[in-house]
Amino acid sequence: MGRLLPVLVFGLAVLGFALKCSATTYTVGDTSGWDISTDLNTWSNDKKFNVGDILWFQYSSSNSVSQVSKESFESCNTTNVVKSYTGGNTTVTLTHAGDWYFVSGNKLYCLGGMKLHAEVENNQAYAPAGAPQAATGSGQGDHLPQPTSKSNIPTSSAFINCGPNVFLLAILGLIASMLYTDVKM
Ligand SMILES: *[C@@H]1O[C@H](CO)[C@@H](O)[C@H](O)[C@H]1NC(C)=O
Ligand SMILES: *[C@@H]1O[C@H](CO)[C@@H](O)[C@H](O)[C@H]1NC(C)=O
Repeated sequence: MGRLLPVLVFGLAVLGFALKCSATTYTVGDTSGWDISTDLNTWSNDKKFNVGDILWFQYSSSNSVSQVSKESFESCNTTNVVKSYTGGNTTVTLTHAGDWYFVSGNKLYCLGGMKLHAEVENNQAYAPAGAPQAATGSGQGDHLPQPTSKSNIPTSSAFINCGPNVFLLAILGLIASMLYTDVKM
């Protein structure tokens, strides 16, 4: 029985981490959605996107979402897209750190502000142990915005980012130590 305890404690700790930093799904534009009337700049301003998070675009079926390069984002050039989505219900998983740019497939809407720039951070708490560092800016040409040093920030910053659930971790730790004491007595 005693040999099981370290495993249990470890399991609880892992669970704590998993719950602490699980990916977030963001509904782009909240209730207004991916729409010309939405102030997407304001919507994205206070968001902290992390690798593994999901952007959920909800839009009218006559509209579309295009992932584009920085240059195309700035000029609303919808000719050359990284990826294009249609259908009104699109989820995009932010698979790597760096800058992600989305515009409406309708150039006029893009010029009217229907565009989204998401700065995605590589929060190490998300990465499975031993996983290779996500390549930054792949497919985005010359723009490599996240120097490696930035993703090497100590784990404590991950705790800041995922703050609220540190409590959960503490509680799990407490339960684990209570169990441990129980068995010893
Ligand atoms: C849009 O991008 C394409 C490909 O990068 C380029 O050939 C074209 O000239 C650009 N159009 C404008 C209006 O900038
Ligand atoms: C939209 O997509 C999400 C997740 O991909 C799914 O759960 C949901 O049912 C979809 N909604 C509609 C209206 O298709």
